[in-house]
Amino acid sequence: MRVAFFSVKKYERPFFDDAAAGKGHEIDYIEAPASAATAGLAQGCGAACVFVNDRLDRPAVERLKQAGVGMIALRSAGFNHVDVEAAADLGIALARVPEYSPHAVAEHAVALILTLNRHTHRAFNRVREHDFSIDGLMGFDLHGKTVGCVGTGKIGSVFCRIMTGFGCRVLAADPFVSPDMEKLGVRYVTLDELASSSDIVALHCPLTPATRHVIDRPRLEMMKPGAMLINTSRGGLVDTPALVGALKARRLGGVGLDVYEEEADLFFRDLSEEVIRDDVFARLLTFPNVIVTSHQAFFTREAMTAIAKVSMKNIDDFARGGPGAIDPANAVPLPRRGA
Ligand code: NAI
Repeated sequence: MRVAFFSVKKYERPFFDDAAAGKGHEIDYIEAPASAATAGLAQGCGAACVFVNDRLDRPAVERLKQAGVGMIALRSAGFNHVDVEAAADLGIALARVPEYSPHAVAEHAVALILTLNRHTHRAFNRVREHDFSIDGLMGFDLHGKTVGCVGTGKIGSVFCRIMTGFGCRVLAADPFVSPDMEKLGVRYVTLDELASSSDIVALHCPLTPATRHVIDRPRLEMMKPGAMLINTSRGGLVDTPALVGALKARRLGGVGLDVYEEEADLFFRDLSEEVIRDDVFARLLTFPNVIVTSHQAFFTREAMTAIAKVSMKNIDDFARGGPGAIDPANAVPLPRRGA
């Protein structure tokens, strides 16, 4: 089967080439992100493989269908960028990589916490300039602090284990209580209690209509003065203009973001010669206590290997046996009609 891989960067190709070896599929590597405007590039392909900032709204899914695509393989766990209902209406099979390395994302969240807390990014620059002063670099002991984890699924659970290892008291908010997490000593509370009691709030829940702007102005106002907010999940979980307001009011101690609501126009590209036109994002970058990374939490060798392997397996299963052959564990949950 011919497969169109959209949004492919050169560092990804060796992983996909390895995973595809011997399977007999022909891969079209396409640098452009998938959208209604670029879907025609998949002409003659039986499947399309897409990433997190590809825009698969209904017109894009319709154009993929017209191009001959019968299956969309997501190289991600999250599927908020795909009109799942449109794919179901058009009879296009969807598969994802539900888990590739929860450690990669949880460890990146911890990297953001440690960097913000101990200012290692600033220390690195100072020392290279032979400035060996430590003014302004004071942090706090993580030991004994309260960490709030929103979402204790695969990534959140790993994150809770790591933070417990630091000697933190861990609170969690999740509609599903995990007995394993409770055994670990994690205490489930309401989101409001988590927001108001935590020194560090970390978001590890998916973006859904219910979780959009789960961190909004009132929740930011509830947070402890000087608290830290970490978001490695999806940008839409945070109301960014409200976050900028809280930072301007000096109410937050630090903010670590690997995702941003409008990241599709920014991330995964070198814009160093361009003008950033998004004023909210540009303002965010001016705060000394904000670290933004461009959606790289997943980016480890182990995760890339797993993403390529599972994506190719999903494609191969579909090529051999149609939608019914896709591992149900990798299927994208269908929207509940009328819900
Ligand atoms: P998961 O499905 O294993 O866990 C998500 C958890 O969130 C579940 O326990 C669920 O019950 C909980 N949840 C749902 N609604 C909630 C709410 N309203 N309040 C609190 N908790 C709620 O997902 P996993 O694998 O842990 O991934 C979490 C998210 O991380 C993904 O949805 C994705 O958006 C993001 N992610 C980010 C990556 C990055 O590179 N930055 C890479 C991979 C995932």
